[in-house]
Amino acid sequence: MNPFKNRDIVSIKDFSRNDFLFLFDSANRIESLQEKERNHILEGKILGYLFFEPSTRTRLSFEAAMLWLGGRCLGFAEPKVSSVEKGENLADTIRTVENYVDIIVMRHYKDGAAKFAAEISNKPIINGGSGTEEHPTQAMTDLYTIVKEKGGIDGLRVGILGDLKYGRTVYSLLYALSQFNVKVDLISHPMLRVRREVFFDLEKKIELSEHENVEEVLPELDVLYVTRVQKERFPDPAEYEKVKSSYIVNLKLLEKAKKDLIILHPLPRIDEISYDVDNSKYAKYFKQTLYGKILRSALLALILDADF
Ligand code: CP
Repeated sequence: MNPFKNRDIVSIKDFSRNDFLFLFDSANRIESLQEKERNHILEGKILGYLFFEPSTRTRLSFEAAMLWLGGRCLGFAEPKVSSVEKGENLADTIRTVENYVDIIVMRHYKDGAAKFAAEISNKPIINGGSGTEEHPTQAMTDLYTIVKEKGGIDGLRVGILGDLKYGRTVYSLLYALSQFNVKVDLISHPMLRVRREVFFDLEKKIELSEHENVEEVLPELDVLYVTRVQKERFPDPAEYEKVKSSYIVNLKLLEKAKKDLIILHPLPRIDEISYDVDNSKYAKYFKQTLYGKILRSALLALILDADF
């Protein structure tokens, strides 16, 4: 049975290990189809995208996924070009757009916005990033990338480096990883540690340890997940100045890594991974963006209960 049929994708916490495995199998199946089999899967379906914050990968990979499966898309990539600019509220925006589309992906700067939208919408809502809270389809992409590149998730040691306080991808990834048998090393400046209430909740579900020194744990890691310091979420720009560029992953540092380490990053990158790493065997972050399109294709097809 398809566990994603007509579901909202608001929080990664709503999904089980078996749901993830079902989704990854579906993504593999879609990837293996011939073009003529694939490009009818979502024929006649329309994706609406409502982006209240900037995005490259999330919006375009959803759009690419929909087009890949023969569907169409409409929406706005920034609220300035919509009636939100005239003062229209989120509820009225959703109640209008749901009449034009079959499914909606929304990114919003406020925590709770995706949940609110899902409560009022009669069409499935996909959270494309909500405040500092969650980015569930990024976490699904991250796990899928690990499965594709490492052959599985259980038994791995995963380091998560950077802005663990404000980075919403980190929260969704941690809860997703907690469904698997992994050890997680949280590496950050002390001011950017995982928020305490989440840390205390997660440590009941998964083996976690915190570090400031990346060199201390790097030789043990199978996966290094690097994140950008989220400048736009700091209440005080002076605090950002203190912690920006705390870590730079470069080839010199990677001399201490396992030979088969993989480096992921949700992107965009600022300076936390130096460009010399991009052509190394470790770098999987651009491949991760391709896996994101495949994974989101499967997700759309499953939610809309398409045959494939
Ligand atoms: N990973 C991610 O959410 O990237 P964008 O902000 O470009 O969508």
